[in-house]
Parts: sequence; structure tokens; C-alpha cells
Amino acid sequence: MMQVKNQVKLEFSSIPENITLARVVVAAMLAGMDFTLPDLDDVKVAVSEAVSNAILHGYQNRPTGFVYLVFTVSPEGLEIVIEDYGRGIADIEKAMEPAFSTLPDRMGLGFVFMKSFMDLVEVDSQLGRGTRVRMFKYAFQTMQAVQ
Ligand SMILES: Nc1ncnc2c1ncn2[C@@H]1O[C@H](COP(=O)(O)OP(=O)(O)OP(=O)(O)O)[C@@H](O)[C@H]1O
Ligand SMILES: [Mg+2]
Repeated sequence: MMQVKNQVKLEFSSIPENITLARVVVAAMLAGMDFTLPDLDDVKVAVSEAVSNAILHGYQNRPTGFVYLVFTVSPEGLEIVIEDYGRGIADIEKAMEPAFSTLPDRMGLGFVFMKSFMDLVEVDSQLGRGTRVRMFKYAFQTMQAVQ
């Protein structure tokens, strides 16, 4: 069991305004920790992408859904879990391919950004039930230790 230093849980309506809320919360949490500024920017982009996916795809832009976010800081780094109880993903492997999107006006790059900016990205989803994205970023000192 990893030792938990700090854990923050957020539950918010599926409205685009809350993408900013999630970014601000993660930035505040990481301030003063062992993350570099570029790390912080990476995490903010990954959180934005996952939260916008929950709102746009999961809840198809309906404002009545809820997005659940859990940030867990441990000595190893930062774990972020983003969950929605929306539409779900039919084919996760395909959804994670670069430039794949089910919406014509989208680039299909959200998962590409998440994977390149975080050290680990796992997606669980069930059609009609929802989607859970778990991401991890190693703390700077942990990275140094394993090098
Ligand atoms: N939370 C979710 N619920 C349902 N479907 C999702 C969810 N997240 C992603 N998807 C599906 O996976 C596809 C790929 O997601 P990704 O974020 O990579 O691209 P996008 O959102 O389509 O485009 P972009 O992120 O570049 O605006 C989406 O088009 C959508 O079909
Ligand atoms: Mg996206």
C-alpha cells in the first residue's frame, strides 16, 4: 500500500466552466511539491483533456451529469482518476489511436496528449455506464532515484 500524503476529491457538474476549476485545483495542490513547472503544465493539460472528454463525449455536453476527480499525492508521485457515468467508449483501443475521434470537428488528440504528458494512462469504460481514466505522474525525486 502506498502511503497517502494528500488526497483531494472533487465532484462537479458537466459544464465546460469546470475544466478551469479542475486545472486550478491541481495547480494549487502541486505548488510547493517536487514537481517542476513543465511537469505542472503537463498535468494541467492531461486533466483538461480528460475532463473535457467526460463532458463532451461522456455526457454529450449535457450539463446534468457529474464528473468525479480524485487527486492522490504520495511519495511516488501524483495519481489522478477522472470518472464519468456517461455514454462510455465502444472500442477503447481505437479511441486511443492518434487522430481518432467520433466527432467530426475534433482532432482526436486528447488521449495522445494524456499519454505523452503523463507517465501512465489507463482507461476503463463500459458502453452506457461510463468511463474511468487513471493517470500517474512520478515525482521528480522518484524519477531521479530510478535513473
Ligand atoms: N469520457 C468519455 N466518454 C465517452 N467517450 C469518450 C470519452 N473520452 C474519450 N471518448 C472517445 O474517445 C475518442 C478519442 O478521444 P480524444 O480525447 O483522444 O479525442 P477527441 O476528444 O475526439 O478530440 P480532441 O481531444 O482532440 O478534442 C473521442 O472522440 C470519443 O469517441
Ligand atoms: Mg478529447
